[in-house]
Amino acid sequence: MIVVTGATGNIGRSLVSRLLEDGVAVRALTRDPARAGLPAEAETVRADLTDAASLEPLLTGADALFLNLAAGGQEAAAAVLAAAAKAGVRRVVLNSSSAVTDTPADESNFIARAHASVERAVRDSGLEWTFVRGSNYATNTLAWAPAIRESGVVREAHPGTQGVPVHEADLADVAAVALLDRTGAHLGQAYVVTGPEPMTMADQVAEIGRAIGRETRVEQISEEAAAEAMAGPHFPKEAALELVRLFGGSVGQPLFPVSDAVERVTGRPARTFAQWAREHAADFS
Ligand SMILES: NC(=O)c1ccc[n+]([C@@H]2O[C@H](COP(=O)([O-])OP(=O)(O)OC[C@H]3O[C@@H](n4cnc5c(N)ncnc54)[C@H](OP(=O)(O)O)[C@@H]3O)[C@@H](O)[C@H]2O)c1
Repeated sequence: MIVVTGATGNIGRSLVSRLLEDGVAVRALTRDPARAGLPAEAETVRADLTDAASLEPLLTGADALFLNLAAGGQEAAAAVLAAAAKAGVRRVVLNSSSAVTDTPADESNFIARAHASVERAVRDSGLEWTFVRGSNYATNTLAWAPAIRESGVVREAHPGTQGVPVHEADLADVAAVALLDRTGAHLGQAYVVTGPEPMTMADQVAEIGRAIGRETRVEQISEEAAAEAMAGPHFPKEAALELVRLFGGSVGQPLFPVSDAVERVTGRPARTFAQWAREHAADFS
């Protein structure tokens, strides 16, 4: 049986479906099972991962764990790892980030710092491990959905920022292979998992326009205004500004090099952003 944290999240939901399709028993963790909308075949269990005392029973009986840092944060991730080791879980697949480069540059990037610290905790846990270091998720573009629905105009500080948007199903597929692997080939591997091609934000906005059959475009705004729009209760404006400035540094050169990890690990090419946009057209219409 496999425990999936963040089971209602971008990757978690795809991963639950993929594991069930493979005939694997899944315990899906969420703070609100009634609203989770997960498949009935999964054992959907209420869990708040910030409640350290409640964790061990959630992990009892599991062979492997998919750990999502967004499900409760760094402290919760460390507590989940400790409880997993106690409960006899053998393997963890960590949802990490391609911001982690294993170089001193990681210290000056807040996204890299957070994920590198959980990677260290995983390495120290004594469990078998694989890291899935995802590039920018295609699902990030859902933040543009209200603007695209309303006017077709997306406002960003750096429309020329080049990312390599990755489909959530590809991240889930790589995670599933690592969770289920019997050969040991994926143990101790840190896979940088990207989409198949670099694309600017402007390219992505145009691709969404093609998918919904409407004209879309990007309008450039100041870094301050972009950070203001991005900030929220769980994402302070200073962090948003750091991210916007990071994007500014990748105009004309991709934030991440394209990786072939999806094909190497799953045996099929990574899904394109055009496919992602077609599958999510209803979100933008
Ligand atoms: N976005 C990117 O481009 C990108 C790229 C690389 C890496 N990452 C990393 O990927 C991770 C996932 O981020 P995301 O934005 O895609 O989020 P997400 O996984 O889509 O959503 C967060 C999940 O965490 C669960 N959760 C939140 N608080 C919880 C708690 N206290 N206890 C239990 N579950 C809790 C939520 O479930 P319920 O609400 O159902 O409880 C939800 O399923 C983050 O660590 C992020 O840094 C993101």
